[in-house]
Amino acid sequence: MAATNTKTQPPSKDDEMWFGFPMHFYQGFWLENMISENVDTFQTHFQANDTDIILASLPKTGTTWLKSLLFTIFNRKFYSDVSKHPLLTTTPHELVLQLEFDVYKNSLGCNPPNHTEIPSPRLFATHIPYLPLPESIKTSKCKIVYVCRNPFDNFISFCNYWIQFNINEGIKLDIDLMEEYLDKYCKGIVPFGPYEDHLLGYWKESLKNPEKVLFLEYEGMKKEPKSHLKRLAEFVGCPFSEEEEEGNVIDEIIELCSLKNLKEVEVNKSGKFFGRVGNKALFGKGEVGGWNNYLTPSMAKQFDQMLQKLKEAGFSF
Ligand code: A3P
Repeated sequence: MAATNTKTQPPSKDDEMWFGFPMHFYQGFWLENMISENVDTFQTHFQANDTDIILASLPKTGTTWLKSLLFTIFNRKFYSDVSKHPLLTTTPHELVLQLEFDVYKNSLGCNPPNHTEIPSPRLFATHIPYLPLPESIKTSKCKIVYVCRNPFDNFISFCNYWIQFNINEGIKLDIDLMEEYLDKYCKGIVPFGPYEDHLLGYWKESLKNPEKVLFLEYEGMKKEPKSHLKRLAEFVGCPFSEEEEEGNVIDEIIELCSLKNLKEVEVNKSGKFFGRVGNKALFGKGEVGGWNNYLTPSMAKQFDQMLQKLKEAGFSF
C-alpha cells in the first residue's frame, strides 16, 4: 500500500494551503506535507496485533475525549484512586499516541521506533482514512473505534484550532478567512478529508464488520454518555461488571474525562502542543450546534452537497 512519497517542502503548484501548512492529495485524501514521511513509514512498517485498539477520527471530532475514555476504560483497575490518575498529570495525547504524529515522527523510512514492546492491549490513534490504513490493521483482528462529528461544528473547530498556529503571524479568524476556508472544506480540501469520504469509509466498514469497527457520533455521546460508554467498553472487551455499574464507576469515568474537568488540569492549561500551540487549544467549548454563532444561513448552505451524500447513507446532520 505504501507509495514512495517524498513530498515534504516546499509547496508545489498542486498543493493547497491549510492555515499556512501545505497539503497534497495522496491516496484519496489531503495530507499535510510535513507528515508525509511519517505516513509513509506508518503504512510500510506498522504491524497491528490482534489485541490492538485503534481510535480513528478526523481531527476536531472528539479525538481527545475518546483517547481519555479509552485509556481510562482500559486502565481502570490500576487507578481506583482517581486522585492519582494519569489524566490529572498527562495530556490524553501523550497517553494514547497518534500513529502518524507521535509513533512515526519524521522517521524518513528508517526502522519503526520501539512501540512494539508496549504491553497488550495497545491503544493507538490515527486520522488516516480507512482505505489507506496499513493492511495489517484491516486484516488482523484488531478493533477500530471511529468517532465522527457534525460537519458544521467540525469545520468551526478546525478553524478555531488551526488559526492558533497562525496567531503569531497576526492572522485573525474574520468572516473573509472563514469563507475562504469554508469553500475549501466543502470541496473536501481539509487535512485528512474530504470529510464525507473519511466518515463514509469507516461507516461502510462498520456496517460490513460491526465486530471490527465501532462507529460513534460526538453528538450522541454528549447526549447519552452512559449508554455510549457501556457500548464502548463492551466493544473493546472490557465490559463493566454489575458491581462496577452499581458502584458508579461509569459516572466517575464520565466525570474524569469530561471537558470541564480536563480543561482545569494544569498540563492541559499550560503545556504546549508541537512545542508551539498551547494544549488549551485542544479544549474549547465542545458545543453541539455552536456553529450557529459563526455561520450565516448562506454559508451553511454550502454544506448542502456534502449533506446530500451523507443523507443517502442515512445521516441527518
Ligand atoms: P470545539 O472546538 O467545538 O470546542 P479533537 O479532540 O478531535 O481535536 O476535537 C476537538 C473538539 O473536542 C473541541 O471542540 C474540544 O473542545 C472538544 N473536546 C475536547 N475534549 C473533550 C472532552 N473531554 N469532552 C468533550 N469534548 C471535548
